[in-house]
Amino acid sequence: MDALTLRRWQAGDLPLLRIANTPEMTRHLNGVETEEQLIERNERYLRLGEAGQARNFVIEDPQHRALGSIGAWHVEWHGQPAWETGWFVVPDAQGRGVASGALALLISELRQHRDGRRYLTAYPSTTNPGSNGVCRRGGFELIGTTSASFRGAELIMNEWAFDLDS
Ligand SMILES: CC(C)(COP(=O)(O)OP(=O)(O)OC[C@H]1O[C@@H](n2cnc3c(N)ncnc32)[C@H](O)[C@@H]1OP(=O)(O)O)[C@@H](O)C(=O)NCCC(=O)NCCS
Repeated sequence: MDALTLRRWQAGDLPLLRIANTPEMTRHLNGVETEEQLIERNERYLRLGEAGQARNFVIEDPQHRALGSIGAWHVEWHGQPAWETGWFVVPDAQGRGVASGALALLISELRQHRDGRRYLTAYPSTTNPGSNGVCRRGGFELIGTTSASFRGAELIMNEWAFDLDS
């Protein structure tokens, strides 16, 4: 999709997290968060952003309507500093290349702000066709599968990585 922009996350963006917090939108994330957890997530985006440890964005169309969110945060990955990314697109805007377009913008953003990190990783649930499609289309390499406890239940995830030097 053309003419998307990324705008840095602001305190007033909490309602966007609520829009994404439905049973359907969190089907591959072991379900919804509480209002307290959403408030904590909003504060974490701001806090880590100010500390230079994360870059979270609202995905906007040319009319500055919020179509979703994408972000990246510092992680340790196979013994080296790396980035991890995550995203969502609101239901009305899905299936039009919004997540893929936003990921391309995020990659160019991270290439300008490397923070000494070469790889961008992503961990969608193995059952999430949309998110795995975003990784595949974005040129990520499938490394393998892994599992972890997430929101109180086991989540089996694909491990994807993108080389920012490529
Ligand atoms: C996953 C999500 C972000 C995809 O957003 P989107 O803007 O619809 O994705 P795109 O249109 O950029 O699609 C990217 C690729 O994935 C494929 N894809 C997207 N949704 C798909 C689906 N439901 N089933 C199968 N393939 C899908 C597209 O066909 C495209 O691949 P292609 O270029 O080979 O055709 C969106 O569905 C979403 O927000 N889901 C709920 C939240 C979520 O799961 N977040 C991720 C947690 S890891």
